[in-house]
Amino acid sequence: MKESLVLAVETSCDETGVAVMEGRKVLFEALASQLDLHRQTQGVVPEVASRRQAEVLPFLLKRAQKAVPFDKIELFAVTNSPGLLGSLLCGVNFVKMLGFLYRKPTLGVDHLLAHFFSPFLNRNAEIRFPALGLVVSGGHTVLLWAEKSSEIRIIGETLDDAVGEALDKIARLLNLPYPGGPEIERLAKTAKDTKVQFPPPMLKSNDFNFSYSGLKTAVLYYLRKHPAKTKTEKAQICRAVLESAFLPLVEKSYRAVREFKPEVFLMGGGVSINSFLRQWMKERLSEILPSERILFAPKKYCTDNAVMVGLSAQFLLSKAGPWYTLKASPQSSLYELS
Ligand code: KG4
Ligand code: ZN
Repeated sequence: MKESLVLAVETSCDETGVAVMEGRKVLFEALASQLDLHRQTQGVVPEVASRRQAEVLPFLLKRAQKAVPFDKIELFAVTNSPGLLGSLLCGVNFVKMLGFLYRKPTLGVDHLLAHFFSPFLNRNAEIRFPALGLVVSGGHTVLLWAEKSSEIRIIGETLDDAVGEALDKIARLLNLPYPGGPEIERLAKTAKDTKVQFPPPMLKSNDFNFSYSGLKTAVLYYLRKHPAKTKTEKAQICRAVLESAFLPLVEKSYRAVREFKPEVFLMGGGVSINSFLRQWMKERLSEILPSERILFAPKKYCTDNAVMVGLSAQFLLSKAGPWYTLKASPQSSLYELS
């Protein structure tokens, strides 16, 4: 990995992040969360998200420039796909302008790749390829195979909802606040036993795909018959939901590791913070992979941030180009390759 001084920007969904990185070293980082804004609407309203990003990004950049003068920056990187187009355009246009002003190359980083590489932010993790990676977030559930850092393809993905999206919708059915994932985990930890069960979706399918819209419907029908009145009842449902949602992630990752034989297994994305998922994944994969080769993103960098964009840029340097080649797209660039 060549180490360049990179300024990275993340605005693919609702967060606004700026980082300056040199290899894995973080020289500056800032993240402006919009959680308070989206709690009111129980989800992200795209127009509201991009307006706020356009307001706060210049201030974060100003702070970054104080920490590391921009004339020293060798590359300006930005998440340019996939995501909400208005949000992506906000970051992309600022970075284009920086590339133009400072006459330095720019690089568009795919958001899935940023989550994929994020476990390498662990300082003591050895960077090895081939790598197999699971990205689990509010917008994505994909298994990725990287023969090398510049050759990455999708080997499996959700056919409908992403796992985080399903958890957020299920939390709503249970009257839990947004975002639902952390709330479901918090309640599930208090469940003593699980009388409730939901079938794990796509567990037996002979591929590496997933599906989560059925789980949400199963919970909806269950609640119609058995309304959850007490905290204990809700906790049991949350625990059952996590078991059903995570078993396919764990088993398909296990099968993929057995088939592809990677040097390392990587897991990133907002849902990968979940301690049940981490524990079950580690237990199962350590049957076939030494534990130091099972890498999870540092908890701080599981949800959207610019640090993972800065790190990814180091792996993707060869794809950098002049500012006018940078384009935003709501679709992942990985579909062009798979
Ligand atoms: O990576 P991320 O910030 O945004 C996307 O790229 O989508 O992920 C956000 C998702 C949300 O669906 C949220 O509910 C989920 O990550 N999440 C969790 C936990 N913390 C956040 N899911 C399960 N357990 C958690 N502790
Ligand atoms: Zn994300």
